[in-house]
Order: sequence, then C-alpha cells, then structure tokens
Amino acid sequence: MTTASTPSSSTDARTKADPLDLIDVDHVRFFVGNAKQSAMFYAYAFGFQIAQLSDLTTGSRQQASYLLTQGNIRILLTTGLHADHPAQREVARYGDGVKDIAVTVDDATAAYEQAIRNGAESAYEPCEQSDPNGTVVSAGIKTYGRVVHSFVSRTGDYDLKRIKDGGLFAPGFARVEGLAINEQNRRDPCGLLYVDHCVGNVEEGKMNHWVKWYEDVLGFKMFKHFDDADISTEYSALMSKVMASGNHLIKMPINEPAEGKKKSQILEYLEWHDMTPGVQHLAFRTDDELASVTALRQRGVDFLAIPDTYYDEVWQRVEKLGWTVREDHERVKQLGVLVDADDEGYLLQLFTKPLQDRPTLFFEIICRRGSQSFGKGNFKALFEALELEQDRRGNL
Ligand code: FE2
Repeated sequence: MTTASTPSSSTDARTKADPLDLIDVDHVRFFVGNAKQSAMFYAYAFGFQIAQLSDLTTGSRQQASYLLTQGNIRILLTTGLHADHPAQREVARYGDGVKDIAVTVDDATAAYEQAIRNGAESAYEPCEQSDPNGTVVSAGIKTYGRVVHSFVSRTGDYDLKRIKDGGLFAPGFARVEGLAINEQNRRDPCGLLYVDHCVGNVEEGKMNHWVKWYEDVLGFKMFKHFDDADISTEYSALMSKVMASGNHLIKMPINEPAEGKKKSQILEYLEWHDMTPGVQHLAFRTDDELASVTALRQRGVDFLAIPDTYYDEVWQRVEKLGWTVREDHERVKQLGVLVDADDEGYLLQLFTKPLQDRPTLFFEIICRRGSQSFGKGNFKALFEALELEQDRRGNL
C-alpha cells in the first residue's frame, strides 16, 4: 500500500485571490443514529481509524462525534443526544447518511460571503471555535436536498497539515487511545487514500439546476456528462453530469432519474430518502484495487455482484481502446472487480451494497490507471446488477 496522496498537493502554488479556492476535502460529516456503533462498523468493515471523539466524556452535551481517518479521508460521524437535535430529526427522516461535504479554505468567512454573493442560501453563519492552541472557523451553505457544504478554515494546532499528522481535529476533541481495532487496522490496512468523487441524487428535471448552481456559486466546471442513452437498461435509466472544482480537488457527479419501463435506481433512493435529494455514494481512491477489495472482502464488506459473463468481453473492450489491464485477470474476476477504459487509460472499480438498512448511501472503491472517467462502460452491467437488488427489496 502506498502512503496517502491527494490532488490538493499541487495547491501550494495557488493564488490567494479567490476565497473559493478549495484546499482540501476537510471532512465528510454523516448524521447517524448511533455514532459509537457506526464508528465500529466503519472501522471493522472498511479499515478506518477511530481517531478522535467528542462526546459527554469530553464535555459535549448536545451531540457525540467520532472522527474516522484513513489516508486523507476524514469522516465525522455525528449523533444528536436529544430528540430535538438536528441530527436526530434528520436520522428519523432519512436514516443514516451524509449531511455535509466540508471543504478547507483559507478564510471560511470570506468563502461563505462570496458564495452567498454568488447566490447560495445560508445553512449556518460563520462560527468560531477556539482555545489557546488554535482556531477553527466554519460556515455552511445549502446545496441539493438535505446536504450542506461547510467552509472550514484552521489556524495553529488545528491546521489541516497538523491534523493529517495526528493533531486534534477541533477544540473539544480527544484522541481515542488503546482501541484494539485501530492497532489491527494499522497492521492490516485497506489502502483507501482519499475521496475521489461524491455523487448526489436529485429529483427528475433538477440536474441542470444544480449543475448551474455549482458553476455560479462555487465556480465549478462541467467535467463529463452522460445521458439516458449512456446509462440505461431495458428497465431503468438516469442522467448524470460531473461537476469539478477548479483544481479538480473534488468531483461531484449529479444524477437525476430518467424515464424507464421500471423504477430508476435514483427514484428508489429518493423514495427511501423522504423524496429529498442527498448523497448517493462516496468513491474512495486506492492505488491497488485488488489489495483493497481483497482486504474489504475479508472483513465482510458486501459488494454488488456482477454476472461472470461480464468478463467474457471486458478485456477486449479495454484493449480496443489501446490499454492492457496489468492486474491479474483471474483475480479481477474472482474479486468481481469492474474494469473500464477511455482514451486516457483504464480504471478498476467496485460498489458496495447500501451501508444501512435503507437503499440509500453506498461506497465505491476506485483505482485509476490513467482514466479520469467514471466507468461508463460498466453502467449497463452494473444497473442490471442493481435492478436484481432492487427487485429483491421489492422496489422495482
Ligand atoms: Fe462513482
């Protein structure tokens, strides 16, 4: 396994002029029903370190939060401790899921004010947490559905570079010491490096609205788009456009359901998410797909199963585009990993089944060998697999 790397490493040379220059994905916050138990699930199943916490034992009386880390991925699991806490209310409506895709910036207040001038709606005003060791300023804007983008700026010991070296995440957090699973995960890592992309599902007819929102508010550009001719099976279809930040730090595909004979997987998501847009999947980058998927499968992660016939033509499909898959073909097949290619190279990817009882959030494990695409050539095989699962859930 290699050490964590991130596309943000080239941002040191960026100009300071634009308050919306993004430095990194600061963290992804999930609202969950029981952060303590969720932390254990993500640690055991996906190899995350349960690095830090903030709860009653550290003086937090309204909510409990666990910081999970792996490579340059930071997931913050938050549970409200009272019935009227926003996290508790949202969990009642949506189940566990992503609330906030937070980005690090130089000056959170300036970024927030610029975003508001660009047409964003406020989620919450700038707020500062500080102690003698440093400061964390956060401010949030609303994006699609229940999702927020927080801007986070950090000084002193709370600087992101220090957090990457094990520093405390924010005032009020404490390190989790002596947990056996953390030791086990250090010995036996899963190799997940950073958030490659983060996909949102929105209502039919709303994709272009949110594409324009990312352009207008955050200065993102369209990176790729797929229509229902690309992404359809006999029964269900969707449309998708991929938005990317200026430095390609983060890519945010946005899906909407398209008309099909049966229910689109996007509509299934919305129906189990109180008809409210939200994050469908987070894709984590690995440099070694086979090692990561092997480790995850050994831990019991449940992945979507693709029929064996998929491998009858996949190698030729990739070779036709001029690439040879250098991973062992037999192992790729045994592990059920998907392969796709474009004119820049190929990629390996695999999708988990939903991570909670509702068919909402899932993870993707992706390894890029030059390709900057999203596995368009796999959509058909994948959606047929998804439809089998939808059918098993009685939702097709
Ligand atoms: Fe994806």
